Amino acid sequence: MDLDLATKRIMITGAHGFLGNKLLSELQARGIRKLLTPRRAELDLREQTAVRLYLSAEHPDIIIHLAANVGGIGANLRNPGTYFYDNLIMGTILLEEARQIGLQKFVAIGTICSYPKTTPVPFREGDLWIGYPEESNAPYGLAKKMMLVQAQAYRQQFGFNTIYLMPVNLYGPGDNFNLETSHVIPAIIKKIDQAQRLEESEIILWGDGTPTREFLYVDDAVQGIIKATEKYNDSEPVNLGSGSEISIKALAELIAKEMNFKGKIIFDKSKPNGQQRRSLNCSRAYEKFSFKAQTKLEDGLRRTIDWYLSKVSEQEQS
Ligand SMILES: NC(=O)c1ccc[n+]([C@@H]2O[C@H](COP(=O)([O-])OP(=O)(O)OC[C@H]3O[C@@H](n4cnc5c(N)ncnc54)[C@H](OP(=O)(O)O)[C@@H]3O)[C@@H](O)[C@H]2O)c1
Repeated sequence: MDLDLATKRIMITGAHGFLGNKLLSELQARGIRKLLTPRRAELDLREQTAVRLYLSAEHPDIIIHLAANVGGIGANLRNPGTYFYDNLIMGTILLEEARQIGLQKFVAIGTICSYPKTTPVPFREGDLWIGYPEESNAPYGLAKKMMLVQAQAYRQQFGFNTIYLMPVNLYGPGDNFNLETSHVIPAIIKKIDQAQRLEESEIILWGDGTPTREFLYVDDAVQGIIKATEKYNDSEPVNLGSGSEISIKALAELIAKEMNFKGKIIFDKSKPNGQQRRSLNCSRAYEKFSFKAQTKLEDGLRRTIDWYLSKVSEQEQS
């Protein structure tokens, strides 16, 4: 039977981040009121005692763990130690303390950065352990993957119900547009916008443009997480994706077209490409909890660009 979320106390970690904000709005729009959404300043999830005190005081029924220290390829290369430690320790502490209070369900959000570098495309969940991840994001990807190991061990030993979802690259309104830490879509949008404002005739992107990626619109990711929280209760990890693959070059051209940018797109081959191909087999999510992404890349990009441009113009006016 589906879990009735309206009757549960639901804690969302990272509720004020990109994905968290959208999840929070959607749960509120569905009339779910018993929501716990501590910010990092109120509860640093790397502090075990603080987590213990918070959980024993608030006693959630469900935790949806979105909090993470994340960024694009540049941020991963600059912060491998921090990304490893923070993501590992947050997951480890939270799962352990949640088990101690007898939590009903833990929803862990993983990442496709956990897949091995040489995974055959499309990535299937069964191939998650065939090798080491692409070096640029391995510390982040492996730290998050340890939640899967812990989840499966805790289910086996303690009967603790954790599910583990692996979203592909997300994008959408509200994304992080800081070029120091952003992912590829906001980075391209921002670079094109800056070039247009400064009347520059080119933008420079990292790598050679040949790697492929898959993108999931953030609202679709939210639907997937909610469906899984309601319906899925198994140890096997599940991909959350859109099932469509595009090269970085084609993506940049598509964004340029949407933004009416006529300048050159230059690829800086001295910068790393990251993993060469990424695309998911999404059949398990459909079979287990009827999730299928709805938003076409062109439509999602249009909404993301419109959102970004309206924010920039708001800032200019204030
Ligand atoms: N974005 C993607 O493309 C993508 C793809 C696959 C998976 N994911 C996963 O989806 C989840 C959400 O990602 P996102 O893009 O929404 O990230 P985000 O915008 O950076 O949000 C992450 C949140 O985690 C919180 N956080 C970080 N360190 C914390 C700590 N020590 N204690 C408490 N809270 C802490 C941050 O709080 P503050 O704001 O207070 O710092 C922030 O609200 C992550 O688990 C990520 O790994 C994301």
